[in-house]
Amino acid sequence: MDLDLWLDGRRVARTESRDRGRKVRVVYEPEVVAEVGGEIPLLSCSLPTPGPSAPTAARAFLEGLLPEGRALEAAASRVRGVRLRDGHPDTPADVLAVLAEYGRECAGAVVVVPAGESGDQPGRYRPLGDGRLEAAIGDLPTRPLGADPARGIRMSLAGAQPKLLLARFGAKWFEALDGAASTHILKPDGVWEHSAQNEALVMTLARTLGLTDREVWVERVAGRSVFVTERFDRVVRGRRVRRLHQEDMCQAMGRLPASKYEIGRPSGGPARTLRVFTKDPQAEVERLFRYVAFRALVGDEDNHGKNYALLLSGRWASLAPMYDSLCTLMYPQLSGVMAAPIGAQANLLRVTSDALIDEARAMGLPEPGASAVLTAMAQEMAIALDALDGALTSGWPAERVIELIRDRVHRLQEGKPLGQGRARPGRRISLDEASARRTPESDERRP
Ligand SMILES: Nc1ncnc2c1ncn2[C@@H]1O[C@H](COP(=O)(O)OP(=O)(O)OP(=O)(O)O)[C@@H](O)[C@H]1O
Ligand SMILES: [Mg+2]
Repeated sequence: MDLDLWLDGRRVARTESRDRGRKVRVVYEPEVVAEVGGEIPLLSCSLPTPGPSAPTAARAFLEGLLPEGRALEAAASRVRGVRLRDGHPDTPADVLAVLAEYGRECAGAVVVVPAGESGDQPGRYRPLGDGRLEAAIGDLPTRPLGADPARGIRMSLAGAQPKLLLARFGAKWFEALDGAASTHILKPDGVWEHSAQNEALVMTLARTLGLTDREVWVERVAGRSVFVTERFDRVVRGRRVRRLHQEDMCQAMGRLPASKYEIGRPSGGPARTLRVFTKDPQAEVERLFRYVAFRALVGDEDNHGKNYALLLSGRWASLAPMYDSLCTLMYPQLSGVMAAPIGAQANLLRVTSDALIDEARAMGLPEPGASAVLTAMAQEMAIALDALDGALTSGWPAERVIELIRDRVHRLQEGKPLGQGRARPGRRISLDEASARRTPESDERRP
């Protein structure tokens, strides 16, 4: 089976399977190439026009659109004939089969449909009636993202944590049907205690520091806390929603989701990608440095390749707003080892301002500028911590996270390693792996 890839209401490319589904290429439409020219990262930095793409980049881009972990297992189990191996699609044909079923609403502006179908359907919105939000959240283990192809809800989004995609107009929730775009992502608390409040608090700090302009909050649904964020890849005017294109750093670098924890230092592939594809590389790389420093300051070890993204618009890419950050140091079950090391340091307890400045230098940022960024961030973070709204801090042990971050800010200012105490022993396991091993019931430790 092959697929058509649509952007902004027009078919821009199609997949071309070969070798009985063991290889796939993305081939741009000749009229599109004639119009936009060559070397344009229309769908992805790893799939520049005119194409056709390298099979590894095509697979990485397409597979990168899919959910991960249990969400992928649940989605794939509903598509006949799809095989996973070690939790990932066995062949490109399996990737295409899952996308054919779920690809109408993805990260970014791409709309993926079986060859010959239209990817230009406005769709419609249906209000979520009383109790339906609770039901949709309860159904997430079997209906990841709220997807329900039988009712015209065909959605795909990366990530291992349970999530629901909805639209929100005038403070009311709607299901997005028949190709309509969602506007918000909802992540219920589950495996990691108070993760919804934790993410809302940390992302509010990110917003105060100017690393995103998206609103976040915590919604209570039938006794559960749910983290809510506006999508940065959607522009909402009344009830009209326009999609902006985005891809994550793994897709941009042509890496499969399975290697998201192996993208190396931010100054390597990620910074290089920004240098090649953005209009103002120095400013974009400095922004990347801010994201890296922010995650270090708040104690977030999950800085992997799918937690950074690019917005793509015509010729240029730019770093997308920050997302998916929380204080993972709050969970003693995790190792505290970052997915991407900073300078010579991978452990959140050991990272120092020197390591951060090493990383900045390796990104091509002069030391005085990097040092000024850190000084300003530390000051801004201290102010932002004091200004947190009670709605974000009540009803859970927020003080633990706040004090932890405050202490890290002080230690950065004093030139000390950001964490105190001994590094946690044991093999590094990723947040994904740790999540997969835990269930809410298995959790006996409460902070
Ligand atoms: N605010 C947002 N706007 C648009 N896209 C977003 C936003 N937040 C996340 N995304 C997209 O959705 C994907 C999944 O979101 P997120 O990273 O929060 O999920 P997760 O399941 O917690 O991920 P992980 O597997 O890293 O734990 C991201 O990789 C990104 O492509
Ligand atoms: Mg993520």
